[in-house]
Amino acid sequence: MRQTLVAGNWKMNGSKESIQTLLEGISTGMSDVANTKVVVCAPSIYLPLVSEQLADSDIGFGAETISEYEVGAYTGEISAAMLNDFSCQYVIVGHSERRSIYGEQDADTANKYAAARNAGMTPILCLGESLEEREKGITEEVVSRQLDAVLSQEGVESLADAVIAYEPVWAIGTGMTATPEQAQDVHKFIREKIATMNADIADKVQILYGGSMNAGNANDLLGMADIDGGLIGGASLKAEDFLAICKAG
Ligand code: PGA
Repeated sequence: MRQTLVAGNWKMNGSKESIQTLLEGISTGMSDVANTKVVVCAPSIYLPLVSEQLADSDIGFGAETISEYEVGAYTGEISAAMLNDFSCQYVIVGHSERRSIYGEQDADTANKYAAARNAGMTPILCLGESLEEREKGITEEVVSRQLDAVLSQEGVESLADAVIAYEPVWAIGTGMTATPEQAQDVHKFIREKIATMNADIADKVQILYGGSMNAGNANDLLGMADIDGGLIGGASLKAEDFLAICKAG
């Protein structure tokens, strides 16, 4: 039985004050959240604050990206060791915004995934097709290519301590959520693909859905057999909205 995981992706939002208020709100509401693991992924500069505020909490936290390099002349980058210094447990890798805005390639995502795992953190590996790719009918091909880039380098066994997030690009921040059936089809495809390599890992790996998940649609999405949680952008910025999704899980 896979535990439900709901992770917030704050992206480039928030301030010291708003983050403190948000975490207080989430922490207060956690007493009503049963069985669901709750995680927040924060802009790196706020990780020390988040780490301090969540020190005695069951809420996990992580970063939104990571450098693929260990140390050295990489101006502006943040390494796995640095994230470890602040007890970071999770790292989002391969988010579509990193891929499309910052030009991260499948190979970069694989290296970031490796960097996170080598440092003992859990990568949240994002996969997903654009609208054009969906309309062309190549969703499975795209998601396969993105997943293969990581598994051919790191091996299917690496998924034993990783999380996958299926995030159709056309659904991110658009209010255009995939229907539960559309999402389930791709989640099932991903799990079956992994099962051809290792059935036990396929059975255990958590596959989250991301893309305009909110309090109104979370129940139906999370009710699908292969949807094990959510990666939440917009709706993770308000404690009430985020908690409603956590409670649905
Ligand atoms: P959204 O973002 O919930 O605002 O669509 C999800 C994500 O980008 O992870």
